[in-house]
Amino acid sequence: MLHDPNRVYIFDTTLRDGEQVPGCQLTTPEKIEIARELEALGVDIIEAGFPISSPGDFQSVVEISKAVKEPTVCALTRANKGDIDAAVESLKYAKRPRIHTGIGSSDTHIKLKFNSTREEILQRGVDAVKYAKKFVEDVEFYAEDAGRADINFLAQMVEAVIAAGATVVNIPDTNGYCLPDQYGSKIKFLKDNVQNIDKAIISAHCHNDLGLATANSIAGVQNGARQIEGTINGIGERAGNTSIEEVVMIMKTHQTMGLHTNIDATRFYELSRMVSSQMRMPVQPNKAIVGANAFAHSSGIHQDGFLKSRENYEIIRPEDVGFPSATIVLTARSGRHALKFHLERLGYNLGKEELAEVYKNFLTLADSKLDINDNDLQSLMVHRLVKG
Ligand code: KIV
Ligand code: ZN
Repeated sequence: MLHDPNRVYIFDTTLRDGEQVPGCQLTTPEKIEIARELEALGVDIIEAGFPISSPGDFQSVVEISKAVKEPTVCALTRANKGDIDAAVESLKYAKRPRIHTGIGSSDTHIKLKFNSTREEILQRGVDAVKYAKKFVEDVEFYAEDAGRADINFLAQMVEAVIAAGATVVNIPDTNGYCLPDQYGSKIKFLKDNVQNIDKAIISAHCHNDLGLATANSIAGVQNGARQIEGTINGIGERAGNTSIEEVVMIMKTHQTMGLHTNIDATRFYELSRMVSSQMRMPVQPNKAIVGANAFAHSSGIHQDGFLKSRENYEIIRPEDVGFPSATIVLTARSGRHALKFHLERLGYNLGKEELAEVYKNFLTLADSKLDINDNDLQSLMVHRLVKG
């Protein structure tokens, strides 16, 4: 099949890597509900779970496989037959099954986690891909901790697993260690030095320990990766995973990158709220794209500029991500222009002097109250009329 060279595939792991957050475990019906929404969002791949890890996770992969039609359904394994057998069994109803198998690639993991050698680990990776390939055509290989792996060994591993049949090679920055230029250079090195690299899609899987998951994933696609793995709201173990809404909106906003996805971004806000409430994981108010304050303008200078033209302070329209609307928040930092806007919205059209007087009273009130709502504005106006 010919791939569109500018298409970036979105691999959602909210239900696997995201669900590893302590206290965020979901029931199978909850996972099915999220999976259906992910399908409507347009993700290309849903990583539905790690079937060997528990009977509940196994069952979730089975049920998600039945519930969705369009996306590929993926199951995680370690590089051993038992894990792969469980994944195969759990994926038996999937229209497009994928097995995601892999092993550590950094010397730290090879020595301290597996007490092994590069040669032995490489062979285990190759054997796992060959074994998975007996059951499914689509096999993704992850080189865990690739962010800290020796680049020549990583290239050797990637070449060997592609030769063994891997269709996607995942280069995880498991510990969120890399700087964007380092991660981007890794991908470029693989593109330039792995002779069979064109037979597979390179995937960016970044963690957010240094707050760089989004930047690293973008560096990945700028250097040739064509799949990004992430989660809704960026949830995940420790500091989380790449946030899907962020990378998608970066590619949409920066059209000069020439990259596109299949995502219907107008569904982001709803889905973000659903994931947050089902996982009991609040979204930080200043979270890019979906946080409560993402489209709230509160300082006088910004409000004035925004009211003159949205373009002054808005690079994404709230409706493009399904956000209810931009808001002009009234606080003690707000200016006259914002107050006038809200008073007019409530039906009060004041002249310059009247507005100046109400503004004075407004500031006194706003200094003692965190934010001012419509009732407060009504009281200010009533108070003024009574006095007048
Ligand atoms: O972060 C990681 O390395 C992973 C792999 C299991 C893909 O989540
Ligand atoms: Zn991960």
